[in-house]
Amino acid sequence: MPETPEDMHAQAYAALMCPDPAEKSRLVAQLCRDWEQGLLPIPADGGACPVLPVIDAGRPDRPELITYTSVPQRKPSSTEGLAALLHAIAHIEFNAINLALDCVYRFRGLPADFYAGWLQVAEEEAYHFGLVTERLAAAGFAYGDFPAHRGLWDMAVKTADDPLVRMALVPRVLEARGLDATPPIIAKLRKVGDEATIAVLDIILRDEIGHVALGDRWFRHFCAERGREPEATYLTLMTEFDAPWPPKPLNVEARRRAGFSAGEIARLEGGRPRKSEA
Ligand SMILES: [Fe+2]
Ligand SMILES: [Fe+2]
Repeated sequence: MPETPEDMHAQAYAALMCPDPAEKSRLVAQLCRDWEQGLLPIPADGGACPVLPVIDAGRPDRPELITYTSVPQRKPSSTEGLAALLHAIAHIEFNAINLALDCVYRFRGLPADFYAGWLQVAEEEAYHFGLVTERLAAAGFAYGDFPAHRGLWDMAVKTADDPLVRMALVPRVLEARGLDATPPIIAKLRKVGDEATIAVLDIILRDEIGHVALGDRWFRHFCAERGREPEATYLTLMTEFDAPWPPKPLNVEARRRAGFSAGEIARLEGGRPRKSEA
């Protein structure tokens, strides 16, 4: 079998490991264009590109990565505080590009729709990263100017073996927490009258509902394939992987639109069950 370095998984890997944000975004745009033009066939046998553990995706030397608890508090009432908040969001978006690319690279032999969906997410995350770094530049800062949270990639590493687990714990836990976190940030920005940043967060929130919905759809698909009840499976996985429980208030409307049932939302709002109840 000849090497096929241009196949979809190999190209997603090249973009995933690319350290430079601008070049990564360019590679993502190219991937999406090639996909739309039918130039990226899905290799029937998984392709020649090996499935490697990615302990650290491609990222620039800065920001310096530190533990979550060492990341300073972010209040948007000062220019520096606003910049720190924007930087934290930019870091989330940068990681989100890598998370979407990793789904395309890692998981093999799935329906074309799976890859189409996560390629579109990678493109939207690159767009979000661009929008947020523009606001950061307007405040006089750039991505890399503040330290950032080390833990965002950890869940990718922990869920690398199984797309069902990945869908449960990345889009349906981490991205869903973004749905909850955004309205309170918008409220703070409204107090300081930063309409330009609010407009960016409105776009991000709209798109992120779609990302969680995509994860929800595929999570339920994999559960159905394996004869597993999705909502019980989700709670089991959250316990098994020690996934972060979402702090209240949840964004109930956005979560409903993304596929969470009323029962699930009520259970999440009830707080993490004790080990004996889980
Ligand atoms: Fe995003
Ligand atoms: Fe997202």
